[in-house]
Amino acid sequence: MDSAPFAVKNPCRLMFEDHLQKTLADLETQHRRRRLFVSDLATGPLVRFEGKTRHNFASNDYLGLAAHPQVVAAALEATREFGAGAGASRLVIGTQRPHRELEEKIATFKNTAAALVFGSGYASSTGALQALATKNDVILLDKLSHACLVDGARLSGATIRPFHHNDPAHLEHHLQWAREKHRQARVFIVTESVFSMDGDLAPLRDIVGLKDRYGAVLLLDEAHAVGVLGRGGRGLADQLGLAHRIEVQMGTLGKALGSSGGYLAGSRALIDLLVNRARSFIFSTAPPAATAAAASAALDLCAGPEGDQRRAKLRGLAALLDPAPPAAIHPVIIGREEDTLQAAEQMARLGFHLPAIRPPTVPAGTSRLRVSLSAAHDPEVVRTLAAALPAIVAPATPQNDNPDTVCPVCGAALISEKCKVVCRSATCGYRIVFNCSEF
Ligand SMILES: Cc1ncc(COP(=O)(O)O)c(C=O)c1O
Repeated sequence: MDSAPFAVKNPCRLMFEDHLQKTLADLETQHRRRRLFVSDLATGPLVRFEGKTRHNFASNDYLGLAAHPQVVAAALEATREFGAGAGASRLVIGTQRPHRELEEKIATFKNTAAALVFGSGYASSTGALQALATKNDVILLDKLSHACLVDGARLSGATIRPFHHNDPAHLEHHLQWAREKHRQARVFIVTESVFSMDGDLAPLRDIVGLKDRYGAVLLLDEAHAVGVLGRGGRGLADQLGLAHRIEVQMGTLGKALGSSGGYLAGSRALIDLLVNRARSFIFSTAPPAATAAAASAALDLCAGPEGDQRRAKLRGLAALLDPAPPAAIHPVIIGREEDTLQAAEQMARLGFHLPAIRPPTVPAGTSRLRVSLSAAHDPEVVRTLAAALPAIVAPATPQNDNPDTVCPVCGAALISEKCKVVCRSATCGYRIVFNCSEF
């Protein structure tokens, strides 16, 4: 039987389609609709969408390792040896060597007894919180925590109380409440070390002090700190000498480590419990050997002299922005969704790819452009970006009729050529030059 006419006539299906279209239309009205676009360049300092090449400030490849020859070679070699896919979950089919080697390396890097690799950072957080906390427990969560931490907390069924962002006094208030009202509960504190959309650092010393004082357990998400902060890129907890006091250390392999996947690191019992209880680990096909081998190669580079050089360059690039971010994320808060979309479009016309971050990723009224730096960036390009940003946030009075071609620095006309965008004013000097040999 032909299913197409059935699909068209089925009233339930029509109502469902109608609901989908209405929801999408609502998102469009709120300037919150998102769309996928196709890029045809390797991860690096440039992106190319629909034939247009731009400087890439959207990637979390902070050390520029995603396309590093050693990382790519490790992935290729592992694919040849182990195939493209793992075939089943590890409890069913066993652990391929690259995963075991990577977990040993992560445990050594984090100075913990053991580590466990998941298919993504998202799966690591949701799996860990769902496995560790129960409905009898309490989770105190920084209000700006990443969605995977919020979702993991919800999956656990625990009582959740968000505390004001980076506010130890408010956290302590909640700890007192938890100890009074939920005497038998285990209390978990959950936070990020470098916040993904704000780029600021958690007051980790205070949080660890409170955790110890109130007998709580800390899950720290170092997704945006690993590779960037600490000795050999071990993260903020290492930088502050606090790592040994944190029970559950989480991170991702898909950002500074240039690959894909996530991990939890901690005691042997923690990891064994996750193997037995974390549903996103148990009920999911193991990540391909290629991503584990790539992450291993990236970890070696990250912890070695090349990693140190790349971090030094990254710090130099961060110093070019105002204010200089403590890690590699520089938010430019704009406010309304539509203004942020316009700002992203303006930046695109100037040759920069900067994502417009809107709710629900960030709170309403705080939509922003998120600048993500990488050691692969050219300092000249970052300087030009830094010069362009203030004018995008508070646009200069245009001196010509076409806002599409106005220089963000002085307001004179811009001239677009094949490999560059140049300001017509003789005194301004604003120009964006692409390396044409790269595309
Ligand atoms: C703070 C934080 N934790 C976890 C994740 C999830 O990591 P992954 O992208 O590897 O799933 C992200 C991703 O953006 C993140 O920003």
